[in-house]
Amino acid sequence: MSLVTTKEMFAKAYDGGYAIGAFNVNNMEIIQGITEAAAELKAPLILQVSKGARAYANRTYLMKLVEAAIIETGLPICLHLDHGDSFELCKACIDDGFTSVMIDASSKPFEENIELTKQVVAYAHDHGVVVEAELGTLAGIEDEVVVAEGHASYTRPEEVEEFVSRTGCDSLAIAIGTSHGAYKFKPGTKPQLRFDVLEEVSKRLPGFPIVLHGSSSVPQDLVAKVNQYGGNMPGAIGVPEDQLRQAASMAVCKINIDSDLRLAMTASIREHFALHPDHFDPRQYLKPARAAIKDVVAHKLVNVLGCDGKAF
Ligand code: G3H
Ligand code: 13P
Ligand code: ZN
Repeated sequence: MSLVTTKEMFAKAYDGGYAIGAFNVNNMEIIQGITEAAAELKAPLILQVSKGARAYANRTYLMKLVEAAIIETGLPICLHLDHGDSFELCKACIDDGFTSVMIDASSKPFEENIELTKQVVAYAHDHGVVVEAELGTLAGIEDEVVVAEGHASYTRPEEVEEFVSRTGCDSLAIAIGTSHGAYKFKPGTKPQLRFDVLEEVSKRLPGFPIVLHGSSSVPQDLVAKVNQYGGNMPGAIGVPEDQLRQAASMAVCKINIDSDLRLAMTASIREHFALHPDHFDPRQYLKPARAAIKDVVAHKLVNVLGCDGKAF
């Protein structure tokens, strides 16, 4: 098995009323934790690399680690560029062998977003690679870009048909109330995604795969554990899992999760050092951290995405 695109994954997910998990990867233990969970549960996977992750690990290591995961698990895995911000970055990842790229020009005016997305689609499709684009702006932090709450905006359903037909993109990320990071909603408020916007978008784009970014749920037991062992994460609140499950049963075929893996890893490592202050072999604290990531991913695959058993 070699890397796959999302074409077949999304077609099956759309028809089957489930979504594929797109998990961000930065190192070997994260890749192992995610892929071990997916292998046990026979789940198709998208592993995504941000510009920051590529800068952190360099252009080769994450690719090779993902290739190793395919050898070990035999799973259908798509390697995706998360939040590509330029044609040059998308092209570099396509040339390196990624099977999917996101061009995120959502902060640009509509016409500029279309032009840049079109340029990436032309190059990607020439190379058998699929393209995710974005319309609407999420609040939160992606790479170095911080979008303040007041500057976030829901996707306008009346724009999606023109955007998709003019760009030729293969999937579309929309803004319906999710946001990046661990502080998505104000403490005391009741998180509610805009299912009316999702429904209107999918009516206008029948059969077309929709993507949700910023979809960590920020489990309170993990936040409590981080804080119990010396952390300080006041008011961290995520997207309720039942709402993500509902989105997955609709037109949403890809759900992006990063912060929950960061939380799981950090909680585990903080706990480890609190309980074993004498340890200094990285394997001693990275092994339980990897297992903590595996647990979170297994939970998501079954209870949020519904994609367990769908790999083959
Ligand atoms: O949406 C952003 C992802 O969580 C990746 O974060 O850019 O810090 O790697 P990063
Ligand atoms: P979270 O910060 O909610 O995990 O979102 C991750 C994401 O959207 C990556 O593109
Ligand atoms: Zn994102």
